[in-house]
Amino acid sequence: MGYVGLPLAVAFAEAGHDVVALDVDRRKVNALRAGRSYIEDVSDDTLGSVLHRIVATTRPAQLARCDAVLVCVPTPLTANREPDLGPLIGATQALASVLQAGQLVVLESTTYPGTTRERVAPILSESGFLAGKDFNLAFSPERVDPGRTDFTMRTTPKVVGGLTEACGERAEALYREVCDTVVRVSTPEAAELTKLLENIFRSVNIALVARRPRASRPAIAPATSGSALRTPSRLQADRVTSLCLATDSTPRRALKPTDRRSAGRRGSTQVPSPDLFVFDDCHWVCSPNDRNRVVEHLNRIG
Ligand SMILES: NC(=O)c1ccc[n+]([C@@H]2O[C@H](COP(=O)([O-])OP(=O)(O)OC[C@H]3O[C@@H](n4cnc5c(N)ncnc54)[C@H](O)[C@@H]3O)[C@@H](O)[C@H]2O)c1
Repeated sequence: MGYVGLPLAVAFAEAGHDVVALDVDRRKVNALRAGRSYIEDVSDDTLGSVLHRIVATTRPAQLARCDAVLVCVPTPLTANREPDLGPLIGATQALASVLQAGQLVVLESTTYPGTTRERVAPILSESGFLAGKDFNLAFSPERVDPGRTDFTMRTTPKVVGGLTEACGERAEALYREVCDTVVRVSTPEAAELTKLLENIFRSVNIALVARRPRASRPAIAPATSGSALRTPSRLQADRVTSLCLATDSTPRRALKPTDRRSAGRRGSTQVPSPDLFVFDDCHWVCSPNDRNRVVEHLNRIG
């Protein structure tokens, strides 16, 4: 029930579904039960309006009564910067212990191509049910860019790749409830790769913006913003840098806009929290190692 899971839970509740909101973090579960949102894209009012349809819990057993289970756990990097599938494997094992025939399972976490078929399916099959036969399995990358209002969950095309044709069809039908456009791709691997390519694209854009002379940014950004290869504005660069690239794995607290504003001074290399700092009016969230490298780089290019 983080940046990805909570908005999804709210969207399905708004579409009229009963939702089980499962998280291992008891504080989040308690906040949800009290109608308190800790995610900036979900207001307390919005959460409050659908709270009667959401059961927040730490008990995986509750998943047994769901038609569909969407897995949105963190996929961080290890200290060696390799994928750390620990949370995903933990969540999948918990799900395997309560999996029911006929359920649809969709992995939403950002991960490398092959994860759904090679890592998730075998663990779920320990339940005695076969993926693609007894239950449906698909991958659908979350593409949300928290804080943006021009692209929302409903208006951002949702990419879906099923283990079988039937898995893809079922996942597509599910997401049509909350997204205007669903793009079916042939396999989970294809869907996993789209996310990887999208993140690389955004990452390169950020690097370009970061290297551009500061004075030229306001002049250039409006001219390029309509292009398919648009360079992100400063704000977009901030968002993209802070979430969903490799850095999104860094443990971080939920940031409200007020936190961001008060987090540091213009041009300061002072680090106000372990994972957030402000430089040249941009807010960056990254690991301490990356942070030092970014500060060094920005200082070097002036
Ligand atoms: N935040 C973004 O902008 C964004 C965008 C696109 C994709 N993603 C991807 O989505 C995934 C989730 O990201 P997020 O930003 O929502 O992370 P997050 O840390 O905000 O939320 C993840 C939640 O999963 C919970 N969790 C961990 N292990 C669990 C388990 N075994 N069972 C149940 N809950 C468990 C955590 O307590 C946490 O509340 C990641 O793979 C991320 O790369 C994130």
